[in-house]
Amino acid sequence: MPIDGNGFELGGYTRPDSTQFNELPAHVWPTTARRRSNDEENPGSVEIGGVSLVDIAKEFGTPVFVVDEQDFRSRCRSMAKAFRGAENVHYASKAFLSKTIARWVMEEGLHLDVASGNEMAIALAAGFPAKDMTFHGNNKSTAELRDAISAGVGKIVLDSRSELRRLSQVAAEAGVVQDVLVRVKPGVEAHTHEFIATAHEDQKFGFSLASGSALEAANLVEEDDNLRLIGLHCHIGSQIVDSDGFILAAERVFSLVERLVERHGTEISKHFNTLDLGGGFGIAYTAGEQPLDVAPLADEILTAVDKLAQRIGIETPTVAVEPGRAIVGPSMVTVYEVGTLKDVTIDEGMTRRYVSVDGGMSDNIRPALYGSNYDGRVVNREVSGSRIPTRVVGKHCESGDILINDANYPDDIVEGDLFALAATGAYCYAMASRYNMLTRPPVVSVCDGQVTQILRRETVQDLLSLECETPR
Ligand code: LLP
Repeated sequence: MPIDGNGFELGGYTRPDSTQFNELPAHVWPTTARRRSNDEENPGSVEIGGVSLVDIAKEFGTPVFVVDEQDFRSRCRSMAKAFRGAENVHYASKAFLSKTIARWVMEEGLHLDVASGNEMAIALAAGFPAKDMTFHGNNKSTAELRDAISAGVGKIVLDSRSELRRLSQVAAEAGVVQDVLVRVKPGVEAHTHEFIATAHEDQKFGFSLASGSALEAANLVEEDDNLRLIGLHCHIGSQIVDSDGFILAAERVFSLVERLVERHGTEISKHFNTLDLGGGFGIAYTAGEQPLDVAPLADEILTAVDKLAQRIGIETPTVAVEPGRAIVGPSMVTVYEVGTLKDVTIDEGMTRRYVSVDGGMSDNIRPALYGSNYDGRVVNREVSGSRIPTRVVGKHCESGDILINDANYPDDIVEGDLFALAATGAYCYAMASRYNMLTRPPVVSVCDGQVTQILRRETVQDLLSLECETPR
């Protein structure tokens, strides 16, 4: 039986049983999510962090992002355990960043990956120590490099020859020796969507291992008085659920370490001590998927790196990683309100119900951009209708504004219901737009029965405040 985008069996859309639809798959939803059987006003409604999503919708309106603080923190801790130290885990702030998130990351002892001057500025405003940040990007401006150096950013990941030259100059002007890693593209084809695979040759990131340009860049840094080569970096892609690519990348990157040791001697390992393997650990978006099991992968990587280091007689470098999605992705949900419903004939005798919600591609572009699937549930009550083919869509002016493309949902979802998508923590708010002049939703955190707004909803005044008076 084929499985739909939400892990349900397709093929019998009149099946009366919808108990499955009321379940919240534990590997997809935040760990504290559960249905409230004893809620008198809203029996069967969902709570996260002890707070009812119905109450959150009443207080903050919809759409609203809800992040489970306990879930977020526990993912930080498991990642730190897997990689033998919180400082070896650099949370990729591009997945989702706010001052509160930066503070949680800091309190958990993790370091931070920033990929723009503004990500750095938000983290600094939260009091995140610059020395614990790694600065990324394929096209960092000289101004960003200057800001990073004057803030005292710990590590800068070099991505091009031009940047190498400019960074050396900026460091010299500031009178500092800057720690850097060289980003290598190891030529690994990651099994993921083309747009988020980043280690093959024909893409914009890093120095090629195969062509020798990575070795050339590393040698240049090693010989530069203003820069100190502390390691190599690679990131094979994102939302990867099998471990082979990571191991292969580690081995390939290590072949470059070998070349460096041949040229500069084992002495180099006095300062050359980091192998940063980037992020990319995949999560489960729907009931039928399984997340990448990071702990055994970490063991495998660490053992492999240890062996490789012994073989060439250097100290084992620290293995660092940069997970974004695997930390924040499953911690967050988006709650929408259901609006219009429309039954559309799609084939002879077949109809599809279009369930519209009050957000869409402006708060979650991922289905439209990558064809991503999501797990959606009614969260203000339990539903019990027969299954019918359903598509969940947003309110934007284009038909590609789809959140859940093809599901078999109960037919008693009605206007006014609250409908939530799970695992929306990574790259949803972060990639939000203001299409159709919709304003970005608020983000609230929940923990131990308390709700705290961490980002407010944008207002039309925010939009108007960007307008400049122009001469008539
Ligand atoms: N490190 C580097 C250098 C990266 O480029 C990225 C992601 C990460 C770490 C974090 O990867 P993660 O652990 O979150 O997979 N917008 C896409 C994902 C783009 C990822 C960009 N780089 C999406 O929505 O799937």
